[in-house]
Parts: sequence; C-alpha cells; structure tokens
Amino acid sequence: MKKILEQISEVVSEAFEAAGYERSYGKVTLSNRPDLCEYQCNGAMAAAKAYKKAPFEIANAVVEKLAGNELLAEAVCVMPGFINMKINPEFLAGYLNEMAASEKFGYELPENPLSIVVDYGGANVAKPLHVGHLRPAIIGESVKRICKYVGHNVIGDAHLGDWGLQMGQVIEETKDRQPDLPYFDPDFKGEYPEEAPFTIEELSEIYPTASAKCKVDEEFKQRAQEATFKFQNGDPGYTALCRHITNVSKQDLKKNYDNLLVFFDLWKGESDAQPYIDDMIDDMVKKGVAYESQGALVVDIAMEGDKKEYPPCIVRKSNGAAIYQTTDLATIVERKKLYDPNQIIYVVDKRQDLHFIQVFRTARKAGLVADDCKLDFLGFGTMNGKDGKPFKTRDGGVLKLETLIADINQAVYERIIENREISEEEARENARIIGLAALKYGDLSNQASKDYVFDVDRFISFEGNTGPYLLYTIVRIKSILNKYADNGGNVDVANKVLAPVNDSERALMLQITKLNEMLENAYAEIAPHKICQYCYELADAFNKFYHETKILTEENQERKESFIALIKLTRDIMLTCIDLLGFEAPERM
Ligand code: ARG
Repeated sequence: MKKILEQISEVVSEAFEAAGYERSYGKVTLSNRPDLCEYQCNGAMAAAKAYKKAPFEIANAVVEKLAGNELLAEAVCVMPGFINMKINPEFLAGYLNEMAASEKFGYELPENPLSIVVDYGGANVAKPLHVGHLRPAIIGESVKRICKYVGHNVIGDAHLGDWGLQMGQVIEETKDRQPDLPYFDPDFKGEYPEEAPFTIEELSEIYPTASAKCKVDEEFKQRAQEATFKFQNGDPGYTALCRHITNVSKQDLKKNYDNLLVFFDLWKGESDAQPYIDDMIDDMVKKGVAYESQGALVVDIAMEGDKKEYPPCIVRKSNGAAIYQTTDLATIVERKKLYDPNQIIYVVDKRQDLHFIQVFRTARKAGLVADDCKLDFLGFGTMNGKDGKPFKTRDGGVLKLETLIADINQAVYERIIENREISEEEARENARIIGLAALKYGDLSNQASKDYVFDVDRFISFEGNTGPYLLYTIVRIKSILNKYADNGGNVDVANKVLAPVNDSERALMLQITKLNEMLENAYAEIAPHKICQYCYELADAFNKFYHETKILTEENQERKESFIALIKLTRDIMLTCIDLLGFEAPERM
C-alpha cells in the first residue's frame, strides 16, 4: 500500500494542479511543528518564485482546492505561504485497518529485488570471540534482517579470518605437543585423519599459549611465520590441519553466535578467496591497472577531488604474498561469480575505512564488479567503557564475549528476582532474553558510526530508551490481551480500529502510520538506529495511551474492540521491529 506521506502528497499535488500550478510542488512532509499540525507542504514558497506570485496567494488557492478532501480534516494556509494539515481521523483509522490486514503492514516490496551480500561478523578462527566482535555481529545481523524484510535476496556471510598468523601459531604449538601426527611428516602419503587432533577446549587453550609464546620466544615466532607461509602455499599436511582448526573453531563460534541470535547464511572465510587471486592479479596487470613498484604490485587509487592523499593499494607484496586487501578483492571476484550481487555491505570497524576505500576503488578500477553494484562500508565506532576508553576487563585485558553476556544476564537476573516471586527457571530464561535485548538495543540505538559507552546499569533499566523498556511495553500489551481473552474476548478476530477518541490515541495511531516510511529509510541509509528510535517512540505513545484510556473497562463494545485492534497492531509492529533488531520478547516480565 502507498505510504501515508505519498498518499497525502498525491492529494496536495492534485490540488496544486487543479489550482493551475505544477504538481511537483505538492510534496508533503511530517510537520516540524507537531503542536500546530501533523503534515505540512512548503511547495507554495518554491512555486512563488517560478510563477512570480506571492506564496500566500498560491497556498490559498491550493487550500481552497483541498476543501472537502477525505484524507484531510484541516488544511490551512499560514504566512508567508505554508500549508498546514491535519489528517481526517476516519481516514487515519482506515489506513491502520489496511495496514493490519496487509502482509508486512502494507510495506511495498520492490519490483526487482536486489541480490545483497552482507559481510559481517568477521571472527577469526582459533581465537575466542571478544567484545570487539560484538558490534559487527549485532549491527550486521540487524542490517541483514532489514534488507531481507524490505524484500531483497540477502546473503549474510561470516567472512571468517582463517588465513592469518594464528593458523601458523596453532600449527606449531600442536607440533610441539604431538610431533608424531602425520600432518608434520613431509613424506606422509595416506589419508589424513578425519578426527581433529584437539577438542574445542584444547584448541581454546592452544591458541593463547602459542600467541603468548610468540611474544617471548623468537625461535617459535619464526616457526609460526614459516608454518603460516607453508599452509598459505598449499602444504598438504598443514592445509589438512588447518581444516581441523577451522572446523573445530566454527562449531564453537556457531554456538556463541547462536546465543546472540546471529545466524549466517554462509560461513565462508578468507581462505575461500585464495583460488581467485592469481587470475585476478594477472588480469589487473594485463589491464594496466596494477603495476610494479619497489618489487610489489600496486594499484593507484587517488582520484581527482580527493581531500586526502590515498596511498596505492598493494595487491601483492614483494615477497609474493597476498595481503588483507588482496583477499578482500578476491572475495569480491568470488562473490560476483557465485552470487552476482547488486550490493555488498561490509559491517566492519570504522578504523578500517582506508582499507575499504582501497578495496572499493581498486575493485572499480579493475572492473571486478558491475558499475551499478553498490559497495557500502558501514564502519562502526568503538564500544567504550564508562571511562570513555575502549572497553576492557577490570585488569585491562580483553573481555571474552561469553563473559560479557554472562555478566549482563546476571545483572538482569538480580533485578528480576529483586521484588518478585518467580521460579528460578523462568527468571534465568527471562534474564537471557532481556539481557540480550539490553545488550543489542544499547548498541543499535546509537548511530553505528558513533562510539558509545557500554553502561550495563542503564542498558538493563526497564525505564527510558532501553531494550527492556520495549520488552516491558510488549509484555504489557500481551497481558492486556490475555485478560481480554480471559474475560471471554476473542483476540484472534480482526476487529476494526475506529477513529481516535482522544489525543493520545490519535498520537499512537499517527506513530503507527510512520512505520513503512521509516523502514524504507532504515534500509536506504543502512541505519538500524532508526528502527530503535521509531520503536521507542511507539512504546512511549502506547504507554501514554494506556495511562489515559480505560481499555478493558470500556463499556461501548465496538469501542473496546477498536482498542483491542489498535493495541494488537501496536504489539505486532513492535514484535516486527525487535525482530529486525535481532532480539525477542518474553511472555512475562
Ligand atoms: N577478520 C577481520 C578482523 O578481525 C574482519 C573482517 C572484516 N570483513 C572483511 N571483509 N574485511 O579485523
């Protein structure tokens, strides 16, 4: 269905035309003076210049043509030539009923869905997830869900770091512990074992040990580097061992991401891109895009109008090695071949922005993607502690993600049992659900590119702009609906929303109408925080309405049914919003 601003704009455009002016002046926006009106059109100001008339005169003529229109209850012209409008309550109610009866609340799906790859998560195999992995997971998951919701074909790819030094470190540490394994025997000819030589518990201890050794043991460090080089160049034993590292690690990562309700469609890694590198670079050289500079192969990426100087993108180092940029470029080649995307969205720390400028510009210059394929870098800011510095453990170490989540859940749990009788089991389960909402909303409610302060006490509060406040509101609606059902009401029947009875009901209804506009923007601007803001305002509007309206004791049956329809719609929209943000609501709180 058409968005409400489109519908009103159409009506006003027609009025402009009927009054003898160009239709295009009839664009309507939300009022920036909600105390005066709900919608406004400033077109008469622009038309005044074109038609050399006073804006007021034009606005007046348009307002005259709007008289009696069924969408608007009021259209007035105010000096010097604004048109202020209020919506017709009957139309408003009808609009909501249409939303409630439509798939996805009437969101208009694209005629030609795009194929979109969302590259997020970016965990490194063999290393534990730490707080630094929280933002790419949370933001990326939400971005993926938003792209899917608005109707595109979306693939979320974890793009694991499985090509780095940590692999060599784990290889060498494993060798020190189990030197007789066939992976280390260059003359081994048989099949390598299917079983990994370590469990996840062992692996999660092997990596930190190896990494610590590298810092103090020069000889070990050298060996780890050589092992990395060997496996990157296809040594069969090392490659087989790396496959074990990746598989064991993946299972653990998957468990952690599952707990965060983060689900990847693909679990590809940097290693998957390696087969594409040689041909890609050959092609770049052939096209004259890449050239030799001090033994390395580089691509100039500076462009006219640059405000900064951008160093060339190295695609092959002088020792022949491929680097991070090379891998990302080859991944683009791979994605183009396998998924032919129209858009690739990278959700990565904003400190990597130079990297992505280099990658995107090189990809364009070398023609790795079609010209109309969008390459978007959603660079996120840092999660800081209350001291304003990047979040650390109390002793200054890197906090494991599991620990952070457990801490939040514990804090929520303590709050839950503070003043309520609740079974231990339900309290733990609720703490998990509410904790995740607190964590995710605390992150997503900030514009992704900004740094934010991780403040558990604030995030888990049931009041204010928090995840738990949204859940609390949803649970409140659920409980009203349950009571209604307990008293013989039928919640499943599709009742009609009637025109609002008071200002708070009207405000709630108006907020609901803004949904599809907001979703369109959240996708276009890759901005989950817009959903947070909307949902928070919706919760507020509902709670005001709830406090000012006797819903269940309303005597007029039709009116009561209308209230039920309205709060059901509110609940469903809120559930949709939190699903797009990547969390769930409990049954009770
Ligand atoms: N593994 C990388 C890191 O830990 C992040 C990967 C981001 N994605 C990408 N396509 N480069 O920094």
